Amino acid sequence: NLLDIIIDNDIDIDGFGACEGTLACSTCHLIFKQEDYDKIPDKPTDEELDMLDLAYGLSSTSRLGCQVV
Ligand code: FES
Repeated sequence: NLLDIIIDNDIDIDGFGACEGTLACSTCHLIFKQEDYDKIPDKPTDEELDMLDLAYGLSSTSRLGCQVV
């Protein structure tokens, strides 16, 4: 998934993925372009939406990176 890609590539986002994809943080918050957001096949779960509510700068095309495959 996306989180692995970011970790694999050593992309340095401070604190990104702090909970390692267990939906216990919002450090993997990503804001997609609408066209990219529309390509994400799965809709956010309630758990993801709850965590997104805590994310800084929430937008209508926000997802948690660790939940986007
Ligand atoms: Fe913590 Fe995604 S890495 S919610």
